[in-house]
Amino acid sequence: MDVFHYLAPGNYEMEEWSRPDEMALFGAFWERAQAELDTIAEAEIADLCCGTGMSLLGVISHPNIKTVTGVDIDARNIAFARQRFGIFENATFQVADVTDFLKAGKEYDLLLLSSAYHHIEHSLQPAFARQLFGALKPGGRAVFAENIVPYFDAPLTEPYNTAVVQFYAAARDDTRQRRPNISDRIIRLIEENVSLAIRGEVEFKVCRQHFLSQLQQAGFEMIYEARAWPAGEPLPDNSGNHVFVFRKPDAA
Ligand SMILES: C[S@@+](CC[C@H](N)C(=O)[O-])C[C@H]1O[C@@H](n2cnc3c(N)ncnc32)[C@H](O)[C@@H]1O
Repeated sequence: MDVFHYLAPGNYEMEEWSRPDEMALFGAFWERAQAELDTIAEAEIADLCCGTGMSLLGVISHPNIKTVTGVDIDARNIAFARQRFGIFENATFQVADVTDFLKAGKEYDLLLLSSAYHHIEHSLQPAFARQLFGALKPGGRAVFAENIVPYFDAPLTEPYNTAVVQFYAAARDDTRQRRPNISDRIIRLIEENVSLAIRGEVEFKVCRQHFLSQLQQAGFEMIYEARAWPAGEPLPDNSGNHVFVFRKPDAA
C-alpha cells in the first residue's frame, strides 16, 4: 500500500475506530488525562503527534485547560483536527515536526503522547525523552498511550520483527473475533502496520524495558501505569496497550 495514501486521515480514523485494542487504549488514556487535569489549574498542555485529534476527543472539554496546542507533521491531519475542534477557542493546531516544536523552549503543565513515542525513530527516542523532560514545568506530567510489544534486544532485527508481528496478530485476531464480518479493507490497514514497522518506516515500536529506561534516564519518575488491552492475560513480557504517566520532579 502506498504510504501517503495509507496515512490519509480517513484511513487512520477507520482503522482506529474499528480496533478494540486501540479503543480500549483511548478510553483509558482519556480517563487518565482527565484525572491529571483535575489536579492542575489553568493548564497549558500540548498534544504531540496529535494526528486527527482522536487523542484530544475525551480531553479537550476539560474545564482546567487554559490552552491546548496540537502538533503533527502531516498537514492533512492538522486540517482535520482544526475542523473537528473549531469551536474550542483555547485550542490551536500546528504543522511541525515535534522535535523542532519542542526546541522553542516553552514549558507545559501536561504533555499528551497518544501513540506518539513509537512514531519517533528508534535512534532518536532517547533524545526525544530528554526533550519531553525539558518541555515540562517542575511537577509537570506526560501521559502516554503506548503499544508495548514483547521484549526485543535491538530494533530492526529478527526478534524485533517477531515482537511486532506478535502484537499485531493479537490486535487483528481480537478485531476479527468481535466483528466477524469486518471489511477486508480494515484488516489490510491493520496488517499494513507490520510491513511498515519491519521496513523501518513510520512505526518504531517500543518494548517495555527500553521505553521505561529511556524515560527514567531522562529524569522522569513513573507515577502511573495501567494495561488497557488485552483485558485478560497480557501478551508476552506484559506487552499490550498501556497508559503511563511520568512526572518531572519538583526539584528538577
Ligand atoms: C498513530 S498517530 C497518533 C495520532 C493521535 N495522537 C491519536 O492518538 O490518534 C501518529 C501521528 O504522529 C505523527 N507524526 C509522526 N512523526 C511525527 C513527528 N516527527 N512530528 C510530529 N508528528 C509526527 C503522524 O503524522 C501521525 O499523525
